[in-house]
Parts: sequence; C-alpha cells; structure tokens
Amino acid sequence: MCGIVGYVGFRSAREVLIRSLKRLEYRGYDSAGIAIVNGQLNVEKKKGYISNLKVDFDGTIGIGHTRWATHGNPEDRNAHPFVDCRGEIAIVHNGIIENYARLKGELISRGHEFKSDTDSEVIAHLIEEHYKGDFKEAFFKAIKNLEGSFAIAAIHKKERRIMAVKKESPLVVGIGDHENFLASDIPAFLEYTNRVIVLKDGEVCELTDDFARFYTMEGKSIRKRVEYVNWSVEDAEKSGYEHFMLKEIFEQPKALYDTLTSLESRNEWQVDFGRITMVACGTSYHAALVGKYVIEEILQVPVDVYYASEYRHRPEIVEDSMGIFITQSGETADTIAAAKKAKELGYFTLGITNVVGSSITNYVDRVLYTSAGPEIGVAATKTFITQILTLYYFAIKMARIRGRISTRKYHVLRENLRRVPHDVERTLKMNERIMKESEKISRARDVFFIARGVNYPIALEGALKMKEISYIHAEGYPAGELKHGPLALISQGVPVIALVPEDKTYSKMLSNVKEVSARGAYVVGVSPSKDVEKYVDTLLKVPETDPLLSPFVNVVTLQLLAYHTARILGREIDKPRNLAKSVTVE
Ligand code: G6P
Repeated sequence: MCGIVGYVGFRSAREVLIRSLKRLEYRGYDSAGIAIVNGQLNVEKKKGYISNLKVDFDGTIGIGHTRWATHGNPEDRNAHPFVDCRGEIAIVHNGIIENYARLKGELISRGHEFKSDTDSEVIAHLIEEHYKGDFKEAFFKAIKNLEGSFAIAAIHKKERRIMAVKKESPLVVGIGDHENFLASDIPAFLEYTNRVIVLKDGEVCELTDDFARFYTMEGKSIRKRVEYVNWSVEDAEKSGYEHFMLKEIFEQPKALYDTLTSLESRNEWQVDFGRITMVACGTSYHAALVGKYVIEEILQVPVDVYYASEYRHRPEIVEDSMGIFITQSGETADTIAAAKKAKELGYFTLGITNVVGSSITNYVDRVLYTSAGPEIGVAATKTFITQILTLYYFAIKMARIRGRISTRKYHVLRENLRRVPHDVERTLKMNERIMKESEKISRARDVFFIARGVNYPIALEGALKMKEISYIHAEGYPAGELKHGPLALISQGVPVIALVPEDKTYSKMLSNVKEVSARGAYVVGVSPSKDVEKYVDTLLKVPETDPLLSPFVNVVTLQLLAYHTARILGREIDKPRNLAKSVTVE
C-alpha cells in the first residue's frame, strides 16, 4: 500500500508533488520519490520520509510516490518512481503485480536490466518494451499484461501527458483550469481543486494541461462525472491541533451529526435476512462487535462477527444471512476479498465506508456512507464512532420496519441517538482531566482494559488505541474472563481501566474492580456514577447517557487517554511505526 500523485499544468511540479505526497504520507512512509520531465527525465527517490528528498530540479509535469513496503525492503533502490533502461519512462505504482516474477524473467531474457527487488519495476520495462514512438499506445499494451492490483501513473520524457490506470487500488483525478491532478486520495490535491473524478476498476486516464480523458483498458473512450467535494482544505489539515488524531477526536460531534443527518435522509432500508454476518479488520472489527450487541438487543436477530482475514478460510456455508462489510477506507484487501466471497455465496451484501467511490463500493449490493470527512491519523477515531452510529441507526430502522419495536420506542431511540453528538461534546470537556491521568499511565509497562456487554468491544478498542500509538502493551478483556488467566498478570500498580456504565453489568463490574484492586492494581474507573469513586483509585466521570449508548462517551475517553499517553511519551502519533492507514495487501 502506497500513495501516488501526478501533476500536469503551469505550477512548479516539484512543489505540487511534494505537498500532495505529504498529505498521502498516512498511506505509507518507508520511502518516497518524484520524477519530473523538463526536456529530460529527472528522478529523486530515497528511503524514509518525504522530507528526506533533496530535489534540485523542477518542471511542470511529474509523478510522485510514498511507499509502504511489500516486495523489497525499504531501501533507496526499491523506492519509486522506477525508470526503464533508457531513462525515458518513469512509473509509480500502488498495489501488487502478482505475475511480476514471470514478466521480469521474460523482460530480462530480452535484455532489460532491473535495479530493484520490487514487483513494480516490471511496469516501466513493459512500457519500454511496447514503445515504438507512441507512449499512449505502449501504455495500453503494457497494462494488458498485468495481473494483480494496481493504480499506476506513468510519464515519458518526450510527452506532455500522464497515463494512469486503476484496478483494485484507489485513484482519483482532480480537475483544474489548464492543470490536472492525480492521486490515491482526494486530500492530496484539495488545496488546488475540489472537482474530482473517481476512477473505477479497469479504467484508464490520460491527463494533459487541458484535458482529462478516460478509457476502458481496451482503449474505448468513456464519459465520467465530475463530483464536487465539499471538504475544505482545513478539513484535510491539522487546523492548529498538534496532531491529526487530536483534531479528529475533536471533530467527532460534527462527524456524528453529519452521519446521522445523512442516514435520516435515506429511504432505501428494506431487505430480507434471517441473520447477519459482519466482517471487518482492526478498529472496524471492534465497530462490528458493538454492532452485534446493539443489533441483537434492538433487532433481535443473531449476528456473527469475523475478522476479514479469518472469514476467508471459513467453509462455504450458505445461510439466510446478510453480509455487512465495514471498512473506513473502503480499500482493505481482506475485507474486499471477504465481500467477494459472500457475494459468491449469494448473500445480500452491505458495505459501510467513509470514502465515496472506494473499492468496497464496487463489490457490495448497497453502501451506507459514514460522513466523518477525511481521516489522516493512522489510528481510527472519528470513522469508528460514525461506524457505530451507523450500526445503531441500522438496528433501530430495521427493528421498526420489522415491527420489533413500537413506533413510540422507535422515536425514543432516535431521540436518544440525536443526543449523542452533544454527549460526545461534553465528554471532550474532560480532555484536561484525562491528560493528567495519562501521566500515570505513560509510566506503565502494561495496561488492562475491562468491560462487559456492549462496552466489551470498547475495552478492546481502548487497548488497541493504547498499543498502536503509545507502544505500551495493552489488552482488553471481558471483565468476567479475568479470573480465567489475566488475573495472574495483575500486580502492584498495574493500571486497569474499568468501564462501569449504569446498566445490567454495573454490580458485576464492581465485583471485578474489587478483584483487581485486591491484587494491587491501580484502577481507573470510567463511569457516569459518582458512587464508583469508592471502589477505584481514580474516577473519570463521563456524562450520563442511555446505558446502551455508553460506548460513545467511553470510547472518546479511551481515545484521549491513549492520545495523551502517546504524546507524553513523544511518539509519532499520526504515523505509528510499522502501521499504515489502509492495508491493501492480504
Ligand atoms: C489499518 C489501520 C486501522 C484500521 C484497519 C482497518 O490497520 O491502521 O486503523 O482499523 O486498517 O481499516 P479499514 O479501512 O478497513 O477500516
């Protein structure tokens, strides 16, 4: 997984490409590079962050890349762009060329010389192989040989055009006046234009200063619609916050409000199913688990939840199930593969994603969009909270349609949901209090998160946030499971974060709090109840809500706890080591 960009127009290509790449650094940051044509083809590429690049050339047409290594270690020679043997063609690629080994063998036997260990380099040589004076024709011929997933942009030393193609990796075009842009994601060029064309699988585009033309991979012209994106540049930047993650945590009330407004204006809900299978990865998997509790409670339909990578290996059992595939990026390879499999089994499939036109939307029958806006921090926050809101709304809506709840109850539940943005707003006021608590947590080696019922997935999510950005070992457990093992890990001063909502889990949670307290744990209670103070070392008192909605305020508290802990430790919060925002490899 990587980010690619392209520019052709009248500005400094060096500046546009570097600025655009910086906005895509969340997609990978092992190495970076750019290629610019100005009579000759110039390339600069380096291991490490984009800021390592020393570009002493410029022009008005070029391509760029930020890499997350798959084939070949993160080294200078494996960084993109790659050039052909004659140094006339340069390409950048996001995805995996599955048949690269065979292609490379054939190209080597025809005299091509390779300089990297990557799969991507074959593309430059393939175009060279087909080049007989017409770059566009060579590009079309070359891409026909490729198997796998790819978003590719290519330039030629003698041409003022960028050729690009998309298959299973994202690619969007930004339309300007006498200039055009290309990128893996919209924020890359949002400061220059908000006119966007999203490419679908199997589509090719040709960009020059004055036009953007689109084709099938067979070369047939196609018409594409321009979409206007209403995100502002500030939406995609930090707006004065120290990190994107903090900005995105604070954007949650708006993200929730926008998502609810969009869900309420939707009419298409009717669908038949006997049970539900939900599939996702990472934080989206935790959203699915929250959805399970909520849907089973309100809609009274059984729900199975799978990690997408595990769903792949499940026997092909055909059941009266509807498949829900949750992915904020819409690009996660495992989730997309799972959606394909479910479709083959004949399931009705629903995708929940934050990115309009992302890959998952091509593989499901229906899409519910969260309206969180661009999320740059690798650790998902506002996309998670809008995913769970979407699942609550789905449960309520379907329960009403199926007559599982009365009209009165339906209205009460919807009213409660409308209060969620406000509840989250009040939770954000605890920021300073949580910041102080994080001092203590930042000195810990291990942190445990415990909860029951609908908050159990929130304990998992709190632990995931803590480990991914602070690098402190953290585990989430169903509180009732402590006595079956994890209790052996509790010793003097080990922090245990206990979620204690005022619901049916309340007294059992207090028993578990006593269990860990008796073994010396430092217990942080997260609860709306002042009474909990008697049983814990410190209480983070969250706003009172309907207990079923307590995950919203609890998760915000745990996001802030992880954020401040990581900040105190001086971590790279928006780009934690070894991780990337969207994972397009299986
Ligand atoms: C990566 C990200 C996580 C995210 C997961 C699933 O691992 O770092 O934050 O939860 O992918 O991503 P998706 O886009 O499918 O929700």
